[in-house]
Amino acid sequence: MKQLSGKRVLLGVCGSIAAYKSAELVRDLRDAGAEVRVVMTEAATEFITPLTLQALSGHPVRTGLVDTAAEAAMGHIELARWPDAVLVAPASADFIARLAQGRADDLLAALCLATRAPVALAPAMNAGMWENAATRANIDKLTRQGVAFFGPVSGALACGEQGPGRMIDNRTIIDKLAALFPSAALQGVAVLVSAGPTREAIDPVRYLSNRSSGKMGFAVAAAAVEAGAQVTLISGPVALPTPERVKRVDVISAAQMYRAVMEHAPAHQIFVAAAAVADFVPQAFAQQKLKKEKFSAEDGFVLRLKQSPDILAELAGREQRPFLVGFAAETESVEQNGCAKLQRKKLDMIAINDVSEGRGFDRDENELLVLWPGGRARLELAGKGRLARELMGLIADRYREHYEKNTT
Ligand code: C5P
Repeated sequence: MKQLSGKRVLLGVCGSIAAYKSAELVRDLRDAGAEVRVVMTEAATEFITPLTLQALSGHPVRTGLVDTAAEAAMGHIELARWPDAVLVAPASADFIARLAQGRADDLLAALCLATRAPVALAPAMNAGMWENAATRANIDKLTRQGVAFFGPVSGALACGEQGPGRMIDNRTIIDKLAALFPSAALQGVAVLVSAGPTREAIDPVRYLSNRSSGKMGFAVAAAAVEAGAQVTLISGPVALPTPERVKRVDVISAAQMYRAVMEHAPAHQIFVAAAAVADFVPQAFAQQKLKKEKFSAEDGFVLRLKQSPDILAELAGREQRPFLVGFAAETESVEQNGCAKLQRKKLDMIAINDVSEGRGFDRDENELLVLWPGGRARLELAGKGRLARELMGLIADRYREHYEKNTT
């Protein structure tokens, strides 16, 4: 499932040097599955031609409010009813001011006034304009009215200055736009997610852990919320904020992760195990800090480890088990190892991560190979947010199939 599959996006383009980025944005929106129609302000046509955006969107581009031929094809009120979202990118300071005043003096402003769809603005302007009290007041007013602002970010501006006013990148615009649409794919379903590493204490100051940042699991939890699920997130020690509307349970060790998952699993229909749980933990915990003087240079320090229980495999063996999705980080024979794990652990789905050569861990981007009995999907390199949404789409489809099979 693409991020904006089947969504209708009306893209407004204002007069700003960032208007050249709108051409790529039209293509990226379409690649994300959206149908796009473009409306430009008169000033925007000085920066980029309507013909370019017409060719890329596959639809005529509208500019004027009073255009008899265009009105005959689709009247402006009809056009205001058409989209699932209105995105204005770039949005200029002047356009924001006109919108704050509720004006309808050009087609784009009139559409924003008439539409009942959510309106999002991606501002682009000089830092002085962005920081000006008049612009701040306009933004506050529009925010209170429910208009969403995507960016801007700080950086080099076309005017030669540095500061806030740069339009955010297309991928972030699309992520934020997708988040405006609550999907109902997992409405009423309770999803349990585990994330992050575990820490296994050796003595009061030392521990064994791994490189998991928790980013993928947290993104999965956020994507499940977006899909309408009730979400509980069991997290190992990570430095990440809790996603909105997620119930978070913090744990440190594999033993605590085991207890928390076993306690919460019965109340959830889906369990996504994204945590990198320690497979081996110290056999004994030293109550006092181990002194290096106690160990000889020749013999070194031998730490005995014992195997920790496999949470997923144990859940899989239960009669009443949630739909189980495992993660596998592999450095070699990625597909074969992942496939063997799917079967050995009796999982409903596995997301395999190639972590050879430093890939996967603690990165913002990732790619996944997803396998389930009888099927597979490759999720191409993308931000973890987008990837998590795609994975949740696959999980929702498989879960529905599984659920329908078991209830008919
Ligand atoms: O066998 P491996 O550790 O590679 O399997 C990874 C999957 O198993 C992940 O989904 C992880 O959360 C889960 N796991 C577990 N309990 C363990 C170790 C791994 O649930 N003790």
